[in-house]
Amino acid sequence: MSILRSSTDPRWVGVALSDLDATLGDHAHCEKKAAASAVKLVADNADKPDLVRKLARLAQEETHHFLAVLNELAQRGRTLPPDTGDPYVGSLLRLAGGGRSRLTEQLLVFALVEARSCERLTLLGEALVDPRLKEFYQRLAQSEAGHETLFVDLARAHGAGIDVDRRLADMADEEAAIVAALPLLPRIH
Ligand SMILES: [Fe+2]
Ligand SMILES: [Fe+2]
Repeated sequence: MSILRSSTDPRWVGVALSDLDATLGDHAHCEKKAAASAVKLVADNADKPDLVRKLARLAQEETHHFLAVLNELAQRGRTLPPDTGDPYVGSLLRLAGGGRSRLTEQLLVFALVEARSCERLTLLGEALVDPRLKEFYQRLAQSEAGHETLFVDLARAHGAGIDVDRRLADMADEEAAIVAALPLLPRIH
């Protein structure tokens, strides 16, 4: 069961499909940033062998996704557009405070981002008509499905003294509010 507290507005998928080039461009940046964030977490937590190994593997997988989306863009005669930032992830990362709970909260933010991304890639896979692209999104959604759990498990493993379930429930409420306040655009978030 997903950790999300809300479902995406059903109108989003129509908006995303109305400008598939833009959605794919944003999606490429999401995969790139997922890989980069995993490498950054490894660099900042080199003293935690389980985290290093799991997130190094995740970075590899997200880099594969990034390349796969770049290939889709290339098939459409497109290249990577400029990165216009991600207000959704930016707002979520501000929920991670400082001090002892910082790592746990960062891991929970990434768990929520993975859960929301997986939900939306699944919606695209369901709605797309073009069989090749439909299969592409179904495959990617499947491969994202385990990432939410990976981050929640890491948050628990490194959350000694923190009520991880309580913090996750609060952050999931805040994530739902952040999503609800964002405009519906041809982007993943
Ligand atoms: Fe990915
Ligand atoms: Fe992922």
